[in-house]
Amino acid sequence: MGREMTDRTIKDNLIDLLTIYEKMGFDSLPEAVFKVPKSDKEALLKAIREDIGDCTRCKLHTGRKNIVFGEGDPGTRLMFIGEGPGADEDETGRPFVGRAGKVLESLINKMGFRREDVYIANIVKCRPPGNREPEGDEIAACRGFLERQIQVVAPDAIMTLGNVSTKTLLSTDKTIGQMRGNFCDYNGIKLMPTYHPSYFLRNPSKKIFTWNDAVKVLNYLGIEVINTK
Ligand code: URA
Repeated sequence: MGREMTDRTIKDNLIDLLTIYEKMGFDSLPEAVFKVPKSDKEALLKAIREDIGDCTRCKLHTGRKNIVFGEGDPGTRLMFIGEGPGADEDETGRPFVGRAGKVLESLINKMGFRREDVYIANIVKCRPPGNREPEGDEIAACRGFLERQIQVVAPDAIMTLGNVSTKTLLSTDKTIGQMRGNFCDYNGIKLMPTYHPSYFLRNPSKKIFTWNDAVKVLNYLGIEVINTK
């Protein structure tokens, strides 16, 4: 590679590319231009985790054992977003590994995926004491990292689990009861609000609502629904 090439910035290269597409008659960019390889996504997620560091940005850090960053396939088409870690998640540093996690995993399996095929994260990355809901200042300190994770993973669909994740990502005061079952838009990504899995620990008969929401997501993704109830 010649010297002129190495001196060129990523911006110069991008401008060249845009000019070529313009000359070819495109008035919008072909989708492939935006496709980031999975290995790059892994590196970008690692950089976000490094930015979080040994975080003390909000008061939740005082009681946490582990930061629960989120996990799964960075190349996935489907992302699940919960509220915040509970005791089991705090202990292990992994999202949704406790009782609610088992319920979520059975939904994921019923949808035809393995847990590791999707990406799972939370609104806050440290456990709120006594499993209370995260407070506004805690959400404000943490949400930017999740938003970057969503940007990197760039799934085709997101399922928000419960009130906190739905209200946060959609900037709404409406309850999950009002929001669930209807697709919303999150920065160009289809977002389906549904109940939090812990709701079904108390109300197992209500699981059908979330299954119906999941079927809408599968239909949107063009994935055949194998389980019918
Ligand atoms: N509940 C959540 O919202 N997230 C978890 O990771 C576990 C339980």
